[in-house]
Amino acid sequence: MPEVITTELNMLEQVDLKPYNTFGLSAFARYFCSVTSVNDLQRALAFAKEIDLPVFILGGGSNILLREDFPGLVIRIALEGIVSHPQDDGSVIVTAASGENWHGFVEYCLHNGFYGLENLALIPGSVGAAPIQNIGAYGVEVKDSITELQLLDCDSMSIEVMTAEQCDFGYRDSIFKNELKGRKIVLSVSFRLHTTPDVNLVYGALAQALAQTTDSPRPQDVFDAVCQIRRSKLPDPKILGNAGSFFKNPVISVMQYEKVLQLFPTIPSFPVDQRTVQKKYNEAVDAVKIPAAWLIEQAGWKGKTLGGATVYHLQPLVLVNSGNASADEIVALAGQVMESVKAQFEIVLEPEVQWIPAK
Ligand code: EPU
Repeated sequence: MPEVITTELNMLEQVDLKPYNTFGLSAFARYFCSVTSVNDLQRALAFAKEIDLPVFILGGGSNILLREDFPGLVIRIALEGIVSHPQDDGSVIVTAASGENWHGFVEYCLHNGFYGLENLALIPGSVGAAPIQNIGAYGVEVKDSITELQLLDCDSMSIEVMTAEQCDFGYRDSIFKNELKGRKIVLSVSFRLHTTPDVNLVYGALAQALAQTTDSPRPQDVFDAVCQIRRSKLPDPKILGNAGSFFKNPVISVMQYEKVLQLFPTIPSFPVDQRTVQKKYNEAVDAVKIPAAWLIEQAGWKGKTLGGATVYHLQPLVLVNSGNASADEIVALAGQVMESVKAQFEIVLEPEVQWIPAK
C-alpha cells in the first residue's frame, strides 16, 4: 500500500499507474494525488512547485503511453458536476467539470434532452481531455459544440476562461497540444446543445447502419448505432488494453495523393478541414485525409503481434496490449508499422496517443 504523506491532500508516494491508463501499463509515479476541488488542485501544484517536481495531469488515461516511471507528481483530475442553462434561442449551455467521464456525460445529455453529442458516444476518457485533442468520431468533433473552457493557469494559479475560437482546434489538435502545452489545466467545459432533436448523419457508415432500422432516426437511435459500431470494431480497454486510435489519419497534399493513386488505385481519401491543412502547411493547400487503417492493413500489419503488443485484427489503427506488453514492445511495434507505411507509400504516420515522456 502506498504511504499517505499528507492527509489533507492525500498525497501518495510510489504509485503504480497501471489502473489509471487504459493500455494497462505499469509505471510508477514518484507522487500521486486525486483532486476533487480547484483548491486541492492549486495546493497540489504548489507542492510540486515548492520541491521543483515535474507535473503530469491525468484524466481518464485513455490516450497515453507510459514509457517509464514518472519522476514527479501525477495529479488525477476528479472534479465532478454538471449544470445546464437554457438559452432564449432554444439551445442550452451545459457545463461539465473536467473529471466527469465523457461517455457518462454524453448519456446524461441525451437523457435530459440536450442533443448534439450522440455521435461521440463511448469514447473513453474524461470531459477535460476532450478539448485537448478535439475528440471526434462519426462526422462530429467536440469543437462543433464547445463554447468555452474554464482553466487554471499553472503559473499564476488563477482561473481563466477561453473561448472555443481561442483554442485553435484542428483535427485531433488544439492550442493545448502546442503553444499552451503544460501551461493550463481544464477545470470545466461548456457546450451549446440543441433541445430539439437534431441528428448528424454525414458519416457514411453511420447513415448506412441506421438506414437498416429506421427512416427517421432520433438522437437515441444515433447513440445506439454509434455504440453498436464501436463495440463491433474497437476493443474494450477493460478486456484488452488499448488507447483507441494509436495513429492519426495522415493529411497529405492532393499532389502527393495523385502520385500514390497511380500506384495504388484503390487508396481511399476523405476531406479535411481547412484549419488543419493551414496548420500543417502554413498556407492554403489542397489536401486530403488518408485512413491510416487502410495503409496499415495494406502494409500487412493487421493482426500482427510483437511480444505482448498486437495490431488489432478488426481495426488496425488500434494497437492492443495482447499479453502483458511492455511500453517498449508497443513502441517497437508502432515504429515498425510506421517504417513500413513510409517505405511502401512515402506517407509518414504520426502517433495520436501522447507518449510520456515524449520521444
Ligand atoms: N479501414 C481499412 N481497414 C480496416 C478498417 C478501416 O482499410 O480494417 C479504412 C476504410 O477505408 C474505412 C476507413 O479506414 O473506410 C475509416 O475507418 P473507420 O470508420 O473505422 O475510421 P478511422 O478513420 O479508422 C477515425 C477515428 C476514430 C473514430 C472513427 C469513426 C482517428 C485517428 N480515428 O478512425 O477515433 O472512432 O474515425 O469516426 O481519426 C480514436 O481517436 O481513438 C478513435 C477511435
